[in-house]
Amino acid sequence: MRIHLLVIAALALGSLAAKPDVLILYTTRTNHTRTVVEQVAGALGESAAVTVHGVHSSVTRPGILGYAKGIFQAFAKEPLVPLQEEPISWDRYDTVIIAGPIHCWNYSPVLRSYLLHHEAKFGGFPRKIKMGMIATQGGSGAGKAFKSASDLLALQPAETLVINESQLKRPAEVQFLSRQFASNLIAASTPAPLEVTHTPLTTLMHENL
Ligand SMILES: Cc1cc2nc3c(=O)[nH]c(=O)nc-3n(C[C@H](O)[C@H](O)[C@H](O)COP(=O)(O)O)c2cc1C
Repeated sequence: MRIHLLVIAALALGSLAAKPDVLILYTTRTNHTRTVVEQVAGALGESAAVTVHGVHSSVTRPGILGYAKGIFQAFAKEPLVPLQEEPISWDRYDTVIIAGPIHCWNYSPVLRSYLLHHEAKFGGFPRKIKMGMIATQGGSGAGKAFKSASDLLALQPAETLVINESQLKRPAEVQFLSRQFASNLIAASTPAPLEVTHTPLTTLMHENL
C-alpha cells in the first residue's frame, strides 16, 4: 500500500516537473519553413514550453534586383544583412532550434547573418544548450548548411529535419516527420560542444571600432 502511494506521488511530481523551454528561431521567404515550424512547435508544445521567434531583415528588396542581391549574399562567406532586432531572454532556454530555407547550398543570408551576430549567445549560455536544426529546400544543400551552422556556433545538432518542397505537398508526411523530429529532440541527450576554431564576428567588429 505504502509503495503504491509512493509510486502515485512520484508520478504526480513527474507530471508537475518543469517543461523544457524551447526557442525556435526561423526565417522564411515563401512560408515553406514557417509551415514546418508551425508543425514542429505544435508537436513540441505537448512536452515543452515553446517560443517561436521570426528572424527578419530590416530592408525589403523586391523585384529582380532584390533577387540578384539575395543570390550575391547567399554566396558570401559572411553575409551582413541588416536585421530587425527584437530582444530575446537567451538564458531562459534549454533548447534552441534554428530553421530556414536553403539558398545556394547554405542557410539563407538572413539566418546566417543572424547567427553571425548572435553566435556568442549560443556559446554564452549558462549551461550547455541542446540544438536542433531544420531546413526546407528544393532538393539539396541542407547537409552543407547544417555543417556550416554547426561549425560557426561550435554546437552539434542533437536532431535535424530536412523537408523538400515536394514533401510540402503531402501535409500528413510533413506532420509525421515534424512530430518525429520533436520527440527525438526532446529525448536526445545534449552533444558535447565543439571546439571554437575562429574569432566571433562580433569580437572582430568591436576590435575594429
Ligand atoms: C535565392 C534562392 C536560392 C535557392 N537555393 C537552393 C539550393 O541551393 N538548394 C535547394 O534545394 N533549394 C534552393 N532554393 C529553394 C528553397 O530552398 C526552397 O524553396 C525553400 O523551401 C524555401 O523556403 P521558404 O519558403 O521558407 O523561404 C533556393 C531558393 C531561393 C529563393
